[in-house]
Formats: sequence, C-alpha cells, structure tokens
Amino acid sequence: MTIHPDIAKVLVGQAALAERVVELGQQINTDYAGKEIVLVGVLKGALLFMADLARAIDAIPLALDFMAISSYGNQTVSQGVVRIIKDLDQPIDGKHILIVEDIIDSGLTLHYLLDLLGQRQPASLRVCALLDKSAGRVKPVQPDYVGFAVPNEFVVGYGLDYAQRYRNLPYIGVLRPEVYLEK
Ligand code: IMP
Ligand code: MG
Repeated sequence: MTIHPDIAKVLVGQAALAERVVELGQQINTDYAGKEIVLVGVLKGALLFMADLARAIDAIPLALDFMAISSYGNQTVSQGVVRIIKDLDQPIDGKHILIVEDIIDSGLTLHYLLDLLGQRQPASLRVCALLDKSAGRVKPVQPDYVGFAVPNEFVVGYGLDYAQRYRNLPYIGVLRPEVYLEK
C-alpha cells in the first residue's frame, strides 16, 4: 500500500480498522439483542466508519439517521463552538439511539449532542466512537464503545479530515505538521 506523502505515520492500518469494526458490530449485536436501534452518524467524519459499522451490526434491526454539526472550521484545535447544520430527520423518543462519532477529542461536541438528544426522551442513548483522544478532554464524556485510543496528535483518514481533505484515506494516519503549518 502506498502512503500519502502528507502522512507522517500510519497509526491504524486498513486491516486493523476492518477487524476492529467487525468486533464492535458483534458487541453491539450482543448488547442490543432483541432491540431495534437507530445509528445517529455525525457528519461528515463518521461517514466511512458508520458505513462499515452498520454492515457489521447484522443481527438486529437498524435504522440510520444523521446530524451535521460544525465545531472546528479549518482549525486543528477545538474552538468549543458547536453549530447544528442538519438535525435528525426522525423523532427519537422511545428509541434506542447509538451516536456514531469519528473521534472524541475535547468532548465538547459529544457533550453538546448528548445533552441535545437526551432531551428528546430516547429509550437509551449511547456512543460509539472510532477513536478516543482522551488526552484532549475538556468535558468529562466517555464513549460506550471505542475502536482505538489515539495519542494527542492530529489524525486524518477513514472519514477524518484536515480542511475537508484526506477523508478517503483507507487508514488512520498522523498528518505531517508542515501540512497545516505552511498555511
Ligand atoms: P471534540 O468536540 O473536540 O471532541 O471534537 C470532535 C470533532 O472534532 C470530531 O468529530 C472531529 O470531527 C474533530 N476532530 C477532533 N480531533 C481530530 C483529529 O485529530 N483529526 C480530525 N478531526 C478531529
Ligand atoms: Mg471534522
């Protein structure tokens, strides 16, 4: 596999991602056995992860919905500003909701989402994050399902972007600092 020249280091390769996503799907199958869930994807970062996770959750009925929020602009450091760009299509009262996020860093986005969706009386509300950058935490939030813990570095790929780029990389990698410092 050729590595993109802007990537300093691959943190999680394609095979490890695929394997872990299947494990998460099986865990969710088991934990929600006999129930029906709604995966709520947080656009756009969760898109690739959610597509694979949904296929790995193959033992229970499942619906998909999406929210789009903005918290970063083109910066690599959280500004603590969360703005809703697109809300859910369907009401969630009485439903089992599993928020699907690409990465939890400061926790500001997740804290806001849990608060917002929690007010809508779901039957349950949990979180599945592909990556957990716990060293960045400002708000004390903890995802229920985590793919991988990552160090406090800016990562891209498999849905995660820098300035909307690199989402299509099939692995998680650390961006070369020159790429965002040279602006
Ligand atoms: P938080 O609100 O600081 O937890 O950040 C959540 C959002 O910021 C994520 O859903 C990502 O879209 C973005 N983000 C945080 N860290 C990174 C990173 O290392 N690379 C790319 N996006 C990130
Ligand atoms: Mg993002």
